[in-house]
Amino acid sequence: MASSSSPYMFNRDHKASVRLNYQHWATKQLCGGYLLHPSIPTSNVRRVADIGTGTAIWPVELSQTLSPDIQIDAFDVSRAQYPPNEWVPGNVKLHTHDAFLPFPEKHVGRYDVVHVRFFVTLLNPENIQRFIQNVVALLRPDGYLQWFDANPSTAKATAINPTTSKVAVEKLAALMRKPRPDSSYEWIPSLPELVQSSSSSHLNIITNDVIDSSAFNPSRTLWNHCHLLGYEEFAAQVAARDAKSDVAVRAHQTLADVAIEMAAGANLEVDKFCLVAKVTIEEDT
Ligand SMILES: C[S@@+](CC[C@H](N)C(=O)[O-])C[C@H]1O[C@@H](n2cnc3c(N)ncnc32)[C@H](O)[C@@H]1O
Repeated sequence: MASSSSPYMFNRDHKASVRLNYQHWATKQLCGGYLLHPSIPTSNVRRVADIGTGTAIWPVELSQTLSPDIQIDAFDVSRAQYPPNEWVPGNVKLHTHDAFLPFPEKHVGRYDVVHVRFFVTLLNPENIQRFIQNVVALLRPDGYLQWFDANPSTAKATAINPTTSKVAVEKLAALMRKPRPDSSYEWIPSLPELVQSSSSSHLNIITNDVIDSSAFNPSRTLWNHCHLLGYEEFAAQVAARDAKSDVAVRAHQTLADVAIEMAAGANLEVDKFCLVAKVTIEEDT
């Protein structure tokens, strides 16, 4: 079956891994330290899946907070950022799988929790339903989906005072809102409905928290650095595909100025969200 995977527009080298791990830490800061949202009871959790796991930092850290007999399966289309198997806890297994394709039968309906984080740049109105169907199919009755992500369409520039320049950060925010002419994040507000209609099982939305980054001063520098590094990678990826690309040239020029503005007190704000949905068994009436 053909994958409708979109290209991953970031690097997978050691610097990109440092960025993902740093972003993991910044994310925990932003949401008060949880790996699993407090609305998910951990007492009955036996199996967890992490989709698009990257460096596997989330499953590895989660394994340290749960009982060692809980199985955690992490999936990514690429193993490039995985640690060696010998360096991950025995209850964490790293798999290779394209999440735009159905998961092997042995994983379907087996998980108490399925976790998705920072997958948004890979999704568009054409592939979103296929992705959601594949990940929701992994859940067993009573299982929970936790999806933590950024909403790039909320990207905006702010500054510590009106005289602080934020011209370049504003350009970066515009690029983030629409990185490619065909990019669309209009589906994000409908994510709860998309999740609910993805399966014949009944999915209850437990929470759909919006985390307004502007409310959290201490993590601003962390996120600015993550955005800068991420967009350096994005520009390099665009240039690698098309050296003459306008987007790559504009991004490169803008990023140098963005670094200067951010150091002087300009800020790029992007809201994050955490959606938790539970598969519920409908009572016969
Ligand atoms: C922005 S990273 C997020 C990593 C991790 N979830 C985290 O929060 O640290 C997105 C990840 O999705 C992976 N990915 C890209 N396309 C994929 C696909 N079709 N199926 C599964 N994973 C994919 C990338 O390799 C990358 O590791």
